[in-house]
Formats: sequence, C-alpha cells, structure tokens
Amino acid sequence: MNEKSLMQLFEKSSMEQLQKSSEDYFRLMAYYRCAMMEVETKFNVLNEEFSLRLDRNPINSIKSRLKKPLSVKEKMERKSLPATAEAIEETLNDVAGVRVVCSFLEDVYLLADALLKQDDVTLIARKDYIQNPKPNGYRSLHLIVSVPIFLANEKKMMRVEIQLRTIAMDCWASLEHQLKYKKDTPFTEEMMQELYACAVISKELDERMDALRKGAFVDKTEET
Ligand code: GTP
Ligand code: MG
Repeated sequence: MNEKSLMQLFEKSSMEQLQKSSEDYFRLMAYYRCAMMEVETKFNVLNEEFSLRLDRNPINSIKSRLKKPLSVKEKMERKSLPATAEAIEETLNDVAGVRVVCSFLEDVYLLADALLKQDDVTLIARKDYIQNPKPNGYRSLHLIVSVPIFLANEKKMMRVEIQLRTIAMDCWASLEHQLKYKKDTPFTEEMMQELYACAVISKELDERMDALRKGAFVDKTEET
C-alpha cells in the first residue's frame, strides 16, 4: 500500500470515527432531553394534585436546561477523561438539569418527598443547601435522581440534576450568578459580604412568607 492510499484510508476511518462519535453524542443528548421531559411531567402532575389539595400552586415555574457541549467538554477535561458519550454518561450527573421554583419553603420539601416516593425514581445524591447553606449564602435543595426513559426497544435509566428552591432563593442565585460572571467588573470582598447579607434577608423573607402561608392556607385533606 503506498503512502497516498494509506492516508486516504486513515482519513476515511477517522472521518467515520468522528461521524460515529458525534452520532453517539447527539443520541445521548436526546436521551437526556427525554429524561428532563419525564421529570418535568412528574412535577407538573404533582403541581396539579397539590393545587387541588392545598388550594394554591406549589410550583411557581419549572426550567430545564441541557449542559452546553463546550461545558461538557471542559468538565470532562477537568476530570482528565475523554469526552466520549460513554464516559459522559458514566461520569456526569448534571448534563440534564431541571430547576423547580416553588412558592413557599414548605413546598420544596413537599415536592421533593413526593417525587422520591415514586417507585421509578431512584435517589443518587441529595444536598440540602437550605439546611446547610454554602459559605456565600447560596440556598437550594439539590437532588441527583435516576429516571427511566422508554425507547422503542429498550428502557434506559438516565440521571438528572434537580434544583428545588423558593422564589427568594432563585432571585438571589440568579442575581449572584450574573454579578459573579460579569466580565469587566471584579468580584470584590465587599460584594461578597453584601451578597451574603442579601442571602440572610432572603432567608428571613422565606420564613416570614411561610409563616403567612400557615395562617392563610389550610390543607383540604386535613379539614373536618
Ligand atoms: P458542579 O461541578 O459545578 O456541577 O458542582 P457540584 O457537583 O459540586 O454541585 P453543586 O450541588 O454544588 O452545584 C451544582 C449547581 O448548583 C451549579 O451548577 C449551580 O447551578 C448551582 N449552584 C451551586 N452553588 C451555587 C452558587 O454559589 N451560586 C449560584 N448562583 N448557583 C450555585
Ligand atoms: Mg453543574
């Protein structure tokens, strides 16, 4: 075999390899999108049920996001792993993310417990940053769950990162994120302290709103 034909063969096989890798990647991302839909539906169903029972909506909004290819690549590089579909599926817990913004503090735990009781939901990890806020003041309840998706010929278990938080927690986290990643302004010690003070106010707001809820709404199933 001469050099030219060897090169042609090499290019053909590497192109085929590239094609195969990108197909695997896009298939995996489609599976994650299906898993997010499953989780979203589960929360929408719970919202319907609790709305009737509690006479209010425990969910204010649900947002889903798929990790961007560049972020996937960077995270795999940080872990010194190849960004193949197989390794991504094996390693990352946060490719699929569902954020549930709840009306009241109580709703965060009500919804998390109701979801985890479902027999097709498996809890992989739970981080309660509400009971134990991060040093910067960040609060939310994080769950990594595994849920089945049903394809034409198989059932696949997919992991989804769920963040449950109140409106006040979401407000703080969204603004903190914007401030932290603002490129042309440095994030100073004073800003960090001020953000922490805002987190304390947001915690107090949640507690006062929850106290108001206790007086305003009654669980219909508990009425005599
Ligand atoms: P990652 O490797 O970044 O995914 O972190 P982790 O595996 O240690 O998970 P952790 O539960 O700490 O955080 C996961 C996600 O929670 C982040 O990607 C953010 O969306 C959110 N989060 C965590 N900490 C903060 C924070 O201090 N501020 C904001 N705005 N969001 C946060
Ligand atoms: Mg993450």
